Amino acid sequence: MCGIIGVVGRGDETLDVVLDGLSTLEYRGYDSAGVALSTPGLDVQKRAGELENLRDAIDAGETAPAGSVGIGHTRWSTHGPPTDANAHPHVDESGGVAVVHNGIIENYQALRDELASEGVTFDSDTDTEVVPHLVSRALGDGLDPEAAVRNALDRIEGSYAIAVVLADEERVFAARNDSPLVLGVGEDATYLGSDVPAFLEHTRDVVYLDDGEFAVLDPDGWRVTDADGTPVEKSVTTVDWSAEQTGKSGYDHFMLKEINEQPTALRQGLSGRLDELAGRVTVDQLDGLSTPGRIQFVACGTSYHAALFGVEALRSAGIPAQAFLASEYATGPAPVTDDTLVVGVTQSGETADTLSALREADARGAETLALTNVVDSTAARECDHVLYIRSGPEIGVAATKTFSSQLVALSLFTAELAERDGADSRELVAALRDLPNHLQHVLDESNAEAVVDEYLGSESYFFIGRGSAYPVALEGALKFKEITYEHAEGFAAGELKHGTLALVTDETPVFAVVTGDDERARKTIGNVKEVEARDAPVVAVTDGASDVERYADAVLSVPETHPRTAPVLANAQLQLVAYHMANRLGRSIDRPRNLAKSVTVE
Ligand code: M6R
Repeated sequence: MCGIIGVVGRGDETLDVVLDGLSTLEYRGYDSAGVALSTPGLDVQKRAGELENLRDAIDAGETAPAGSVGIGHTRWSTHGPPTDANAHPHVDESGGVAVVHNGIIENYQALRDELASEGVTFDSDTDTEVVPHLVSRALGDGLDPEAAVRNALDRIEGSYAIAVVLADEERVFAARNDSPLVLGVGEDATYLGSDVPAFLEHTRDVVYLDDGEFAVLDPDGWRVTDADGTPVEKSVTTVDWSAEQTGKSGYDHFMLKEINEQPTALRQGLSGRLDELAGRVTVDQLDGLSTPGRIQFVACGTSYHAALFGVEALRSAGIPAQAFLASEYATGPAPVTDDTLVVGVTQSGETADTLSALREADARGAETLALTNVVDSTAARECDHVLYIRSGPEIGVAATKTFSSQLVALSLFTAELAERDGADSRELVAALRDLPNHLQHVLDESNAEAVVDEYLGSESYFFIGRGSAYPVALEGALKFKEITYEHAEGFAAGELKHGTLALVTDETPVFAVVTGDDERARKTIGNVKEVEARDAPVVAVTDGASDVERYADAVLSVPETHPRTAPVLANAQLQLVAYHMANRLGRSIDRPRNLAKSVTVE
């Protein structure tokens, strides 16, 4: 996730405050960083890569920024690769307006075309760069600085946390919409951060901005107004965080933080990709993709479970699809025809097995697509096409938010192909629109911790599901064993009776994922009765559409929704089960033994 820091009132210490703030934001993950300092003039310095690169450039005296007002940014690429030019801050042509931004400007292409037609030259591939040019144009039209920034904000659509500084102007302007931004109130200085840790070493008194609010930081302090300029009374709260917690935004573990970031991650993944009026999906990155006759997925671990979900979604839409474990694909026979598309599902874009499989697919003559989270990763660069899932960085080894984002991206991918054949996506589009809020509800209301307490110390844990609940069962078991080190297995619900039922006793809780009330749900309930008859405790993960609760000892509820979005909600409950069990057992949750975030060996 990108990070923002801003400060007014620290005089000669401004550059140090901004750079230190960026250091504390490093935990969010980033691939470039930059600063802009104002008064006198406006100095900007930015570099791709580690913050160290930026510090080195500054130490080397290349336009060392000076000034008493500053903003800084750590960027996680979404539009354009991580280069010096794409790093924030972005400036207008005069170099007098500098902007940092988190989020996605959905109408940036139209704005970019409009500005280009007026002769504006762009230096970067980013969506953000339209903002300084819009501010500059408004200043040229005679607006004062604050009005010019407001005018630019009026033109942009999408999600943003934004900070703007202007040459010789002792103010920072800031605004938020769907992306967090918080003020830090110090004795003689005011700070701005995308996250409290950015300025926590200077003050614990904070003001959280709400969507649509606009803040001005100046040497006299701060004020907040709504989008129309009407003053908003904000309360100052004092946070009580230990330094240890700050990198995790107050969460005990990155995994829990990332589980809770899922509604935001999904909003980012959906941003600009749903046309609610037309009831269609609009995935620009798939525009150049020819319509495949059949699809083969290659993936590992959690991403393989996402691929199984993709297979189910595509087949339901009448599109032939198969999923292969990437490590088996490269060395095995996989018939590729002229119209085969091979999709590598890989959050990191660097998994050696998946890269090998994609290279083999390419050698066999298939078109390839990378479905990944990391802009400019090896998979993204080597494939013919790329679809970014836009989760933001994931630091915990256990994949959580990237899995949810993969499921959403695969739903969009399926809908895009199905629409080409005349399918109607109206219901799916509505369900995807509601998904972030439904997921928030699940996270807020989950009783997973209490369920875990009930079954702590069991012999084994089984997870079952059918159809698109099958990959959820597999993923639930993988997450559980990966971080608890307890024995767990996931099964297609109908398979249990073909062997594993022999292991089922009153010491083996069975988590049954049952959403909807179709034939599959009813058959899974039959399998639930089989384990119940062997005294196994049953935990139903359900939307209440069927009567599975009657046979369950405990229930993890999710809202009723579309069959393509229900797995995301059910999976969130199982993520929390795994997390709380591992926490009770005192495991190393963010760095489980023997595992790595990115597996770069075959
Ligand atoms: O980066 P990738 O998605 O290609 O990683 C593949 C697997 O190594 C990964 O999904 C792994 O299974 C998860 N970290 C487990 O939580």
